[in-house]
Amino acid sequence: MATKHRIFICTSCRAKGDPYRPGADLIKKLQTAFQAENTLGAKDFEISSVDCMAGCDSPCTLGFQAAGKASYLFGNIDLNTDIAAVVSFATLYHNLPDGWCSGGLYPRKLRLNTLARIPAMTVQHTPGGTLS
Ligand code: FES
Repeated sequence: MATKHRIFICTSCRAKGDPYRPGADLIKKLQTAFQAENTLGAKDFEISSVDCMAGCDSPCTLGFQAAGKASYLFGNIDLNTDIAAVVSFATLYHNLPDGWCSGGLYPRKLRLNTLARIPAMTVQHTPGGTLS
């Protein structure tokens, strides 16, 4: 079974003073872009919404996550200009065994708006409280 990859988008984000929350429209645009993308394992990506990822000063925020891979959080994603960059990063992320990617490899817009890159969990807690 292929690793499930997840993109999660904040649907609460909005620019200061602007009532419009672009997250839901960003999800729709990404779903359309992924359906049109033939080179990516689009079926391996689930795109879902979240309420807040503590990146409220950088709307709209978007994250990548997959089991055994590094996780990323990006901010200032614009649904009108950044779809291609997100799809490009998704392709890269999908193909990296551990998801770890140096900034020089991924699209400039995302590189400049990386809020977090969190390494994959490599240690697991067992029920007895020991580490394995
Ligand atoms: S409201 Fe979107 S990250 Fe907080």
